[in-house]
Amino acid sequence: FAVHLLAFHFTKLKEDQITKVDRFLHQLRLSDDVLQDVAARFQAEMLKGLARDTNPTAAVKMLPSFVRSLPDGSEKGEFLAVDLGGSQLRAHQVRVSDDGKQSSQLESKFYPTPKEVTQGNGAELFDYIADCLSDFMDTRNLKQKKLPLGFTFSFPCKQTKLDEGVLLEWTKHFRVRGVQGTDVVSSLHRALQKHQDIDVDVLALVNDTVGTMMTCGYDDPRCEVGLIIGTGTNACYMEEMRHISLVEGDEGRMCINTEWGAFGDDGALDDLRTEFDRELDLGSLNPGKQLFEKMISSLYLGELVRLILLKMTKEGLLFNGKVSAALLTKGKIEMKHVSAMEKYKEGLSNTREILTELKLFPSEEDCVAVQHVCTIVSFRSANLCAAALAAILTRLRDNKKLLRMRTTVGIDGGLYKTHPSQKCLWGETPHTHSPKCLWGETPHTQAAKSVCGVKHCDSLEYGLKREA
Ligand code: GLC
Repeated sequence: FAVHLLAFHFTKLKEDQITKVDRFLHQLRLSDDVLQDVAARFQAEMLKGLARDTNPTAAVKMLPSFVRSLPDGSEKGEFLAVDLGGSQLRAHQVRVSDDGKQSSQLESKFYPTPKEVTQGNGAELFDYIADCLSDFMDTRNLKQKKLPLGFTFSFPCKQTKLDEGVLLEWTKHFRVRGVQGTDVVSSLHRALQKHQDIDVDVLALVNDTVGTMMTCGYDDPRCEVGLIIGTGTNACYMEEMRHISLVEGDEGRMCINTEWGAFGDDGALDDLRTEFDRELDLGSLNPGKQLFEKMISSLYLGELVRLILLKMTKEGLLFNGKVSAALLTKGKIEMKHVSAMEKYKEGLSNTREILTELKLFPSEEDCVAVQHVCTIVSFRSANLCAAALAAILTRLRDNKKLLRMRTTVGIDGGLYKTHPSQKCLWGETPHTHSPKCLWGETPHTQAAKSVCGVKHCDSLEYGLKREA
């Protein structure tokens, strides 16, 4: 009886806390109707970005990638790849098998990107990338080989061909002087030339979304969307050439890097942004920019949680109204903390530990409430991402003039791969460990939709319409 009473007490406590938080954060809860509306708004933004006359003022840039097709089996050989734009710099050695059907990552090495690199000057940045690459070739004994290099540069670039790209703007935690408005491929090329002992040719510049779509395309030719949910968020997809008025030619398709992180920069989401979103934006490196990204990606979710907890505490709803110095400090709560607090079993004890480290002396009620705040912030992130993805899928389906479509979405990014509810929704499927998801009539359909936060919808047929 005592055990039951205790359980009842805890459930009641939990319900009370959840109701309290829900009431406080009702603005962060987006109904299905609102999400459908977000999808419709994003569809309109895509059109604006694609058309030559509206593109210059469009928030969502819809950048042509000059990738015209997915791997078709003809490619083979050994390549190097370097990837800049996430939490670390990565160098890879990639081999595409003789039949061109399989790409295998032979070896990867991670390098840190300290503040001197992400917020220094351009020459230093490119020298650093070249140094890392040279070190990688050294450790892999590749220095004597002449190898082509794929440069994954995860920022908005205006491309006119595959091996050239002018940086439009820095995003995320990068703000390097003297790079904006210049071609990043030639800068990397110049830095590589200083290394007399290596012979590397920069073959292609790709956004990480495009790289993800292509990698997924080796295993599944139906892949036509690439999605990143990590430090930043963005998606690309295969668009009909006849709809891309910025590029000559009407035949076939080209991959478009949507740069959806900038959705809302023209005010299109102002009615959905909360005081916390506005405060976070004001304290960021790029105020007024990447507003959609700031509601979704891992670089920002921790800070959003901190701002919410701070306000709740100031209003006496948490920690007996006692604010700590740590809670007042920008950046003290990171995505890794949010994920730890949301963990299925250890979540509550993780929450207590994290809050105690922040010198907040939490009660049981506080821990439950904070956990719920994290869930709401993560759930909104997943839902918004799903709404924009649904808009892209609907566009793909309409382009094909189909009522129903089967397609594959390649997904990658730290938040997608490490967030506990995403992992548990995926379960131990063969896809858990690979950066892709199947979206169609497979057992993974449900999981894929759940990952994106649209548990109860059929995105392919109805956009975000609720199933009967
Ligand atoms: C940011 C970048 C974009 C990239 C995304 C994910 O939104 O602007 O190019 O794809 O982050 O890394």
